[in-house]
Amino acid sequence: MASSASGLLLASLLLSCLIHACYGDILFSSLQRTLQVTTSTRQGVLEAGEDKVNVTWGLNQTLSSGIDSAYKTVKLKLCFAPISQKDRAWRKTVDLLKKDKTCTFKIVERPYDKAVQTIDWTIERDVPTGSYFVRVYAFNAEGHEVAYGQSTDDRKTTNFFDIQAISGRHASLDIASVCFSAFSVVSLFGFFYNEKRKARNAQQK
Ligand SMILES: *[C@@H]1O[C@H](CO)[C@@H](O)[C@H](O)[C@H]1NC(C)=O
Ligand SMILES: *[C@@H]1O[C@H](CO)[C@@H](O)[C@H](O)[C@H]1NC(C)=O
Repeated sequence: MASSASGLLLASLLLSCLIHACYGDILFSSLQRTLQVTTSTRQGVLEAGEDKVNVTWGLNQTLSSGIDSAYKTVKLKLCFAPISQKDRAWRKTVDLLKKDKTCTFKIVERPYDKAVQTIDWTIERDVPTGSYFVRVYAFNAEGHEVAYGQSTDDRKTTNFFDIQAISGRHASLDIASVCFSAFSVVSLFGFFYNEKRKARNAQQK
């Protein structure tokens, strides 16, 4: 009797944990695409830390009014184009948003506003070389994603912009530092080997 009661308690505890865990598990495919997002940049490859991306976003005006009544904040994110995700598991697109690695760079977070918004964002210095687009997520009062918009089409085929990382522009410096650390590892091994040999020689005497 007692054991079945405690079994029941355990089961209900487990169930409530599962429900809680599931509550934060939002799928990208469950979000409505209600926001319009466009980007404009200068021509050519942009340089991280220097160039700017102008992002404009707002509610798609052809949708029924009130569709955005739950929107409280928006988050703008810089996202990898499919070509920059290829062979890179750590940038993989996953439908489960908390595991998705498509959009790892936050641009800005703002309160939601019905009016069209625009920002001139200076590309941050730690952005790696790649092809990108911008996605805007709308969050409700509980901080859950409820809608989105992006500067590319649904299948992610157009309107990307290319960024060159700072490190790419100073490749020779990077190579020099790699060589230097390889050198120090080798010399460390050399040091240990030498010490061991000295110890062995001392033992043999
Ligand atoms: C706005 O919404 C309409 C209706 O859903 C859709 O056909 C159109 O493509 C949307 N526009 C943009 C730019 O997303
Ligand atoms: C961004 O582009 C829009 C449309 O081209 C323009 O109206 C706006 O002034 C630009 N914003 C900034 C901050 O440059």
